[in-house]
Amino acid sequence: MRTPKVFIARDRIQDAVCRLAEEIRRDYRDTAPLLLSTLKGSFMFLADLVRVLDLPVEIAFVRLSSYGSGTVSSGQIEVVQALREDISGREVLVIEDIIDSGRTAGFLLPYLIARAPVSVRVCTLLDKPQRRQVHVTIDYRGFTIPDVFVVGYGLDWNEQYRHLPDICVLEP
Ligand code: PRP
Repeated sequence: MRTPKVFIARDRIQDAVCRLAEEIRRDYRDTAPLLLSTLKGSFMFLADLVRVLDLPVEIAFVRLSSYGSGTVSSGQIEVVQALREDISGREVLVIEDIIDSGRTAGFLLPYLIARAPVSVRVCTLLDKPQRRQVHVTIDYRGFTIPDVFVVGYGLDWNEQYRHLPDICVLEP
């Protein structure tokens, strides 16, 4: 195990979650959006967000995987658990923990649009634009971060560290 060093502390994360919730609430005030969480990484962000959102949301999950082992993306997106809900006619808000290369979102958005929702927007806690390979329009963004490998608050390294309450970098 490498030593995690706090990069974004839990109180800053909660401030960002509250700010995002306000933005989302304002935009969806007369609707009941479907929040679509991409597993596994976004589980903690989703759980915190819905508790402060104060909107009659529904929740759905899709599990996609892009990373091989370690810190290098395989570049291939795999649908590990497909979307089961009918999203036709729904306002869909994708909840991501991080947009890095953009390949996951770049795969997911057409996958969703093919299912005839009214709208699809993207909310990500972390945006790492320096690594972008595929353009993604981000509607709600928590933090823009540099090209550092982060773990914690749902994000993993080889399935480790997801439980950490802060977003951390790994010290060698
Ligand atoms: C991570 C993260 C995002 C995606 C972002 O998921 O949760 O979904 O990668 O990377 P990208 O923009 O380069 O596609 P991962 O595939 O590691 O699966 P996990 O959520 O189960 O950890």
